[in-house]
Amino acid sequence: MPLKKLVAGNWKMHGVSSDIAEIQEIAAAAKDYSDIDVALCVPAILIERAARAVPGFSIGGQDVHHAEKGAHTGCTSAAMLHDAGASLTIVGHSERREAQRESDEEVKAKAEAALAVGLQVILCVGESLELREKGDAVPVVTEQLDGSLPAVESPAGLAIAYEPIWAIGTGKIPTVAEIAEMHETIRSRLRQRYGEAGGGVRILYGGSVKASNAAEIFAIRDVDGALVGGASLKAADFIPIVAAASGR
Ligand code: PGA
Repeated sequence: MPLKKLVAGNWKMHGVSSDIAEIQEIAAAAKDYSDIDVALCVPAILIERAARAVPGFSIGGQDVHHAEKGAHTGCTSAAMLHDAGASLTIVGHSERREAQRESDEEVKAKAEAALAVGLQVILCVGESLELREKGDAVPVVTEQLDGSLPAVESPAGLAIAYEPIWAIGTGKIPTVAEIAEMHETIRSRLRQRYGEAGGGVRILYGGSVKASNAAEIFAIRDVDGALVGGASLKAADFIPIVAAASGR
């Protein structure tokens, strides 16, 4: 049985009050695709307004602090995201791993903190172009995954996003064979770690997903959805990707 696909938008540092109308348009159009889980991960400060504007639609954060509370100026805890109306969060996005030097250990702690309050988690992994060209993509992503996976008995609520760094925002995407190889590797690690339940963890592909390439990507085995950046900002770009996930 294929897993129900998840198509999540990552708005990154985009979105102010006037964009709530776009979120409403996306949420309204997503209702036609009940076979697909659709979500938007918006800036933390927009979560509460977005969640109020689209009841029943999944709004998420893009990062979370690993601590429950404390002296962490400028940070947002998992309980705060949840309280604001988020039902999920991204952790370990490469833009944070790079700019904020987040380690695998920190990403793991973030995932655990988010799952503990009932948020779903999209945990990102992915290799640089240099590592891909050296032929090291699979071992490097495997190591990243092993170090970042939350130590939980059940991985319910967890999804992995494979996002090659060189494919993010560049218009370049790996070949079908490269995506298939990586997703198969991730699936086997998930089964090793979580047993049978590892088969139920969704593995998303992310990096330059657009309406024009989505159907081809979703047809690959073990691709259970997508994490979409630039093409998630407008309903006109995002909804055709949801439609492709639904096979329409
Ligand atoms: P992109 O970003 O779709 O703009 O390449 C994806 C991501 O960073 O999650």
